[in-house]
Amino acid sequence: MAGYRRIKKVFQSQHTVEGAGVHLHRAFGYPEVPMFDPFLLLDDFHSSNPADYQKGFPWHPHRGIETVTYMLKGRVRHGDSMGNHGVIGPGDMQWMTAGRGIIHEEMPDDDSGELWGLQLWVNLPKANKMMQPRYREIKAAQIPKFRTPDGTEIKVIAGRINGDQGPVTDIICQPEYLDITVPGEHKFEYPVKKDHTVFAYVLKGDGIFDASGRLCTPGQAVLLENGDTVRVKTKDEMRFLLISGKPIGEPIAWQGPIVMNTQEELRTAFMQYRQGTFLD
Ligand code: FE2
Repeated sequence: MAGYRRIKKVFQSQHTVEGAGVHLHRAFGYPEVPMFDPFLLLDDFHSSNPADYQKGFPWHPHRGIETVTYMLKGRVRHGDSMGNHGVIGPGDMQWMTAGRGIIHEEMPDDDSGELWGLQLWVNLPKANKMMQPRYREIKAAQIPKFRTPDGTEIKVIAGRINGDQGPVTDIICQPEYLDITVPGEHKFEYPVKKDHTVFAYVLKGDGIFDASGRLCTPGQAVLLENGDTVRVKTKDEMRFLLISGKPIGEPIAWQGPIVMNTQEELRTAFMQYRQGTFLD
């Protein structure tokens, strides 16, 4: 349906423990497949207590997906089997395409204060699941930022607005990934491709996305119905991620960090990992 997108469903992020013992909040994941297609999972790790995050995510494999990490506070160190090393800090992001296989670690670089980051998993279609892995690190200064006349600030991480192309390009599902801050008591409208999956993830402040009047609050993923415009009316200053992508529409076989199309492909991946031939 064309027009303003209405809310399909709101997901309150839930506490979970991942990696070597990282306490985080998951907005959506395995049980929600395929509602967010092409997106698989969104984790929000946010804590001022180092015990919640310092164990990090030691070496583990991925295949068949892309992972997108966006830091808001604190720093995370990354190393992978392709020889990439880097530290991402506030406002930085990394876009990692596992493709046929990558083994990496993601660890807090400084475990003394507040850490806040988000990790999104983006599925790859069958034709790209076994592509060569790649890794991109984008510093905050490389991310175009602009302000509308009414004071709304938009950071374009992926996608294009008014000719400003975000630094993350050539991603398979043609995503848009925006970090938007709207002043209080404002209306914000944004055009989207009408058949793409679109959701908002609220970071701060409250707002209303459709005529139901439902107030959406921090920690909620707001999945929207099809339509060509997203509209939000803010109560107070509101910051949210607005993420969209082209649905893949293929079968999903998912176990832990590996997402393929069939159980057979999953079995092969785990067997290769055990036998040490995963990266061959
Ligand atoms: Fe990972």
